[in-house]
Formats: sequence, structure tokens, C-alpha cells
Amino acid sequence: MKRIVDLIAEELEPAFAARGYDPGYVRVTLSNRPDLCEYQCNGAMAAARAYRKKPIEIAGEVVEEAKDSPLFSRIEAVMPGFINVSLNPEFLARYLQEMAAEEKLGLKEAEKKETIIVDYGGANVAKPLHVGHLRSAVIGESIKRIGRYMGHHVIGDVHLGDWGLQMGLIIEELRDRQPDLPYFDESYEGEYPAEAPFTISQLEEIYPAASAKAKTDEAFRERAHQATLRLQNGYAPFRAIWKHIMAVSLQDLKRNYANLNVSFDLWKGESDADPYIPGLIQRLVDQGLAYESEGALVVDIAKEGDAKEYPPCIVRKSDGAALYATSDLATIVEREQDFHPDRYIYVVDKRQELHFIQVFRVAKKSGIVAEETPMIFLGFGTMNGKDGGPFKTRDGGVMRLEHLIRDINEAVYEKIREKQKVPEEEMEQTARIIGLAALKYGDLSNQATKDYVFDVDRFISFEGNTGPHIQYMIVRIKSILEKYRDLRGGEETAPIRPAATGTEKKLQLSLCRFGEVVETAFYETAPHRICQYMAEVSDAFNDFYQENKILAEEDEGRQAALISLITLTRRVLDTCMDLLGMESPEHM
Ligand code: ARG
Repeated sequence: MKRIVDLIAEELEPAFAARGYDPGYVRVTLSNRPDLCEYQCNGAMAAARAYRKKPIEIAGEVVEEAKDSPLFSRIEAVMPGFINVSLNPEFLARYLQEMAAEEKLGLKEAEKKETIIVDYGGANVAKPLHVGHLRSAVIGESIKRIGRYMGHHVIGDVHLGDWGLQMGLIIEELRDRQPDLPYFDESYEGEYPAEAPFTISQLEEIYPAASAKAKTDEAFRERAHQATLRLQNGYAPFRAIWKHIMAVSLQDLKRNYANLNVSFDLWKGESDADPYIPGLIQRLVDQGLAYESEGALVVDIAKEGDAKEYPPCIVRKSDGAALYATSDLATIVEREQDFHPDRYIYVVDKRQELHFIQVFRVAKKSGIVAEETPMIFLGFGTMNGKDGGPFKTRDGGVMRLEHLIRDINEAVYEKIREKQKVPEEEMEQTARIIGLAALKYGDLSNQATKDYVFDVDRFISFEGNTGPHIQYMIVRIKSILEKYRDLRGGEETAPIRPAATGTEKKLQLSLCRFGEVVETAFYETAPHRICQYMAEVSDAFNDFYQENKILAEEDEGRQAALISLITLTRRVLDTCMDLLGMESPEHM
């Protein structure tokens, strides 16, 4: 469906043309003075300069032309030259009715369907997921969902850190603990066991122990480093251990992501890019882009007009080892080969910005990625504790994601137990659904690049700008709909009616913007737009609900029309929730 702003523009363009003004000046926006009008057009201001007239004169002429349009209940020219309009309730009701008839609620899908890689999650294998990984997972998941809803072919890739020093550390720690394992017997020629020599809880203990040991024990650190190199060079026994680590750790990771309602199409990692590294290096050398500098191989990325000085991108260290940038570039080579994406979106901590500037520039300079392909780095800020510093456990350690979720769910559980609105058998599931929305909305409602304060008490509140508040509004609608069914039997339907009250109109005006908001959220890579919108719709619904009687309405036709309106409200809110990777419970 066409967006309301475009329909208004199409109505004003002929009015401009009729008075001899270029219709190209017409630009319609939501009013920034909702007390005065609903939409506004500032075209007369821009045209005034070109035609050397007073803006108010042009605005007046346009209004004169358009005043009988069936789209507007009011159109007026106001000083210094704004054209203010309010929508005709008949027109608005018809628009919403059409929206309700469409599966995607009137959203205009992208004309060009793109293949998009969203690189998010980024967990490091064998290290516990911590809150730093939370943001990437939560934001990336919503971007993937929004892109899909727009009709794009979106591929979510978790891009695991599965190839680094942590592997060497675990291997050498394992050698110290269980030297008799066949992996450490150089003369062993049999098959390696299918079963891993450790469980997930042992693995979770092995890595931190090894990491701590490496800090004080230099020989151990060197052994781990060598083991990592041997693993990367394909040494069979270490590959076998690595496979065990991967299998045990992945199972755990998948469970954790599933708890967050986050899922990936590709479970690839840095290790998958490894085979592409030699070809990549060769290419960069052949193109004359990579050159030796102090034994390392580097590519210059500075451009004229850069505000900052960007250091060259190192693609090979002097000892021959690949680096983080090498691995990301090789991954891009692989992605180009497999998918030839039209757009890349990376959802990673903003402290990695320089790394991605380097990687993107090398990818473009070398032609691995076409110049016009957008490569978007969505760098997110830090999740802080109430004290302003990075979020920690009570005793100052790094908070594990699992524990964070458990704490939130427990707090929500307490709350719904006190309120006594949720049937006993639904309590646990409901606490999980609410807890997840509290967590995700708390994160997503902030512009991603900003740091934010993690405040459980605020996030789980049923009031204010929170996920649970929006769920609460949805639950209220569900309950009205249920009571209506009991009251009237079957599913009597009536078209949405022209708004009769101010709050009804306000609700309708917010609903009609759904498609526009989703589009903006996608093109700006900004899920917080959807949060803002959900809050606006819920508030509008709440005001409407306070002012209009729905279940007590005696006129059945009028009642059915109101039911249609709140049914659409519910669909809009539920769809937004889904785009952000949340759900709403049945009771709360
Ligand atoms: N594993 C990395 C980390 O924890 C994040 C990976 C981000 N994605 C990427 N393509 N580099 O810091």
C-alpha cells in the first residue's frame, strides 16, 4: 500500500502545478505540532525562494486548490507558509480497513529484493556467553527479522570465534590434566574416540583455568601459542580435540541462543574462512595492494579527505600468522562466492569500528566487494550497571548471560505471583516471555550506538517505556476480544469506522504509520524506531480505552467496528513484537 504521506503528497502536487509551481517542492511529513494539525507540507517555503514570493501567498493558493479534496477534513495555510492538514476520518478509516485486509498490514515490500548477510552473535567457542554478546544477538536478530519482513533474502551468520588462542590453551591444559589421552601420543595411529574427553561444565572450567595459568606461566603460554598454530596448520590430533570442543560448545551455545529467541541460518566461524586465506593474500599481493612493512604484510587504507589518520590494515604478521582482519576478509571472499550479497550488516561492539573500516576498505579497494555494495557497521555501545561502569556481577565478575536471564525471570516470576493474574500452570512460561521482552526492549529501545544502563527493576515494570508495559496492553486487548466473543458469540465483523472521538482518531493515526516505520527501521538499521512506535501505539490505545466504552457499547454495529479497530491494534503490536524477537503472553 502507498504510505499516507505519499497519498497526501500526490494530492498536493496537482494543486502546486495548477498554480504554476513545480510539484517537486511538495514534501509531506508528520506534523511536529500535533496540537495544530496531523501532517504538514513545507513545500511553499522552498518554492517561495525560487518564485520570489511570500511563502504564505503560495501556501494560500495551494490550500485554495486542494480544499475540496476528500482526503482532508481540514487544510490551512499558516504563517510563515506552512500547509497544515488533518485527515478526513472517512479516508483514514478506509485506509485502515485496507491495511487490515493485507497480510503485511499495508507494508510496501522493497522493490529490489536484496540478498543480505547479517553478521551477529559472534560468540567465542568454549568461552561462556557474557552480556557483551547479548547486544549483538538481540540487535542482530531484530535486524534480520525486519529485513525479511521487507521481503529481502536475509542470511544470519553467527560468525563464531572458533579459531583463536583459546583452542591452544584448552589443548595444552588438557595435556597437563590428562597426558595419557591418545591425542598427545605422537606415535598413536588408531582412530580417535568419538566421545569428547570432557563435558560442557568441565570445558567451562578448563578454559578460565588455562587462561589464568597463561597469565603467569610463560612456558605454558608459548605452548598454547604453538598448539594453536599446529591446529591451524591441520595437525590431526589437535583437529580431533578441536572438533570435540566445537561439538560440546555448540550444543550449549545453541541452547543459549534459543533461550533468547535468536536463531541463525549459518553456524559458520573464523575456521571456515581459513582455506580462503592463501588465495586472498595472493590476490592482494598480485594487485600490488599488499606490501611488506617491518616483516608484516600490510594494505594502505587511508583516503584523501579522511578526518582521521587510519593505520594500514595488517593482513599477515611477521611470523606468518593470520590476524582478525585476515579472517574477516577471507570470510567476505567466501560470502561473495557463496551468496554474492547485495548488502552486509555487521552488528558488533563499537570499539571494533576501526577494524571494520579497515576490512571494508580493503574489500572494496581490492574489488572483492563491489564499490556500490553497502557494508554497514552497526557498532553498539556498552551495557552499563547502575553505577555507570560496565555491567558486573555483585562480586565484580563478568556476568554470564545465563545468570542474567535467570535473575530477570525470577524477578518477573515474583511479580506475577503477587499480582495473581496468571494461572499457576502458565507462570513459568509467562515469566520467561515477560523476562525476555524486558531484557530485549530494555536494550532495543535505545539507539544501538549509545551505552545504556541495565536496570532490572525498571525493565520489568509494567508501567513506563518498557517491554512488559507493551505486553500488558496486548494482553488487555486479548482479554477484551475474549470477553467480546463470550458476549456476542461468533465473530461479528464490521469495517473500522470513521473516528468519532479524539482518542479514536489518535489511535488510528498511529496505526496507519506501521509500514512507514518498518521501512525506516530497516533503511536506518534502527530497531529502536520500532520500539518508539510500539510505545506510541500502546499509549494511543490506552487513552482510547480509557475514553471509549467497548464492551459496554450497546449499539452492536458500533461495537463491532471498535472491535475491528482493536483487533488491528493487536496485530500491529504483535507484528512489531515479532520483528524484535519477542512475544506476548496470554495473561499477566
Ligand atoms: N568473536 C568476536 C568477538 O567476540 C566478534 C565477531 C564479530 N564479527 C566479525 N565478523 N568479526 O569480539
